[in-house]
Amino acid sequence: MEAPLKTIAVLTSGGDAPGMNAAIRAVVRAGIDKGYRVVGIKRGYSGLLEEDFVEMTSKSVSDIIQKGGTILYTARCEEFMTKEGQDLGAQICKKNKFDAVVVIGGDGSFKGALELARRGVGVVGIPGTIDLDIACSEYTIGFDTAVNTAMEAIDKVRDTSASHERCNIIEVMGRSAGHIALWCAIATGAEDVLVPERYDYDESRIIEQIINKRKIGKKHHVIINAEGIGHSQSMAKRIETATGVETRATLLGYVQRGGSPTCRDRLYASAMGTKAVDLIEEGKIGTVVAVHDGKYVSFPIEEALSMQKDIDEYLFDMSRRLSRVVK
Ligand code: ADP
Ligand code: F6P
Repeated sequence: MEAPLKTIAVLTSGGDAPGMNAAIRAVVRAGIDKGYRVVGIKRGYSGLLEEDFVEMTSKSVSDIIQKGGTILYTARCEEFMTKEGQDLGAQICKKNKFDAVVVIGGDGSFKGALELARRGVGVVGIPGTIDLDIACSEYTIGFDTAVNTAMEAIDKVRDTSASHERCNIIEVMGRSAGHIALWCAIATGAEDVLVPERYDYDESRIIEQIINKRKIGKKHHVIINAEGIGHSQSMAKRIETATGVETRATLLGYVQRGGSPTCRDRLYASAMGTKAVDLIEEGKIGTVVAVHDGKYVSFPIEEALSMQKDIDEYLFDMSRRLSRVVK
């Protein structure tokens, strides 16, 4: 009698990110190629607890590489934050003979994966979040698509900002990290950028900048504000009162999480998904796939979660230098 195939389960969890489908496809195709059976778990840890599984075939991941969102759906699962939920999750993995569970998601999802690992489940994490806030990795799936979507939207707001000679605050996503804000600010030539990693809550500097730039004839003033700072609406009101310059706030919101992934996201997702299968094959479970010095590597999940990531100081300083306008 032939030995049953080893099984890899794959799920997406937390905020969706363009490129997650490409990562699912890579796990499925690379897994099948290595002789594994691949099972999809729907709606992240919620689907795990409900045993909502789907058999994955090479064919079932056809025609998804170009699609945003995640065909496996995603969720934020409160029950999995509890010890009981985590015990049950691990039990279900063992009962269903999952040799490895590939978790595509952000920091929170990795914390969940660590709980499974502590209970003897083989896990491999793939960084999937638009926020670029996974400390062990230089890249996270979805970031490139998100910043490009945001950049295009900001360019549009800038047109109307100039026509109306207004100040426009544009709030971008990123949870408590300012990477999206910083990249967008540099790429759109924004007049100012506020990131949680460097924000001192001193609005007098922002106000002074607007007044000075008006004096030298600047017609528009675009401020990129990171979600981690927030309060864009009330900030706009205070700025308008202090400067006399009409000020509006725009929250870009979920548009940043959708859309067809860029080439970069498709490529990284494909490589990370394949790397996850290679790690499983090598027995390197309890790990997270990462990009380090441009290479695909892995870190033990616990170590990955203990790492800290700061904003890129050089980029931050550069954004300030390049937005300085002197007469
Ligand atoms: P992301 O993975 O994008 O950071 P969340 O932080 O919302 O998104 O986490 C996604 C899910 O991962 C949560 O809904 C929960 O089910 C699980 N999770 C988050 N933090 C933990 C934790 N500390 N322990 C166990 N599971 C967690
Ligand atoms: O992690 C991705 C992200 O879009 C963050 O930028 C944002 O803070 C969060 O998810 C929003 O989550 P939700 O979908 O629960 O509103």
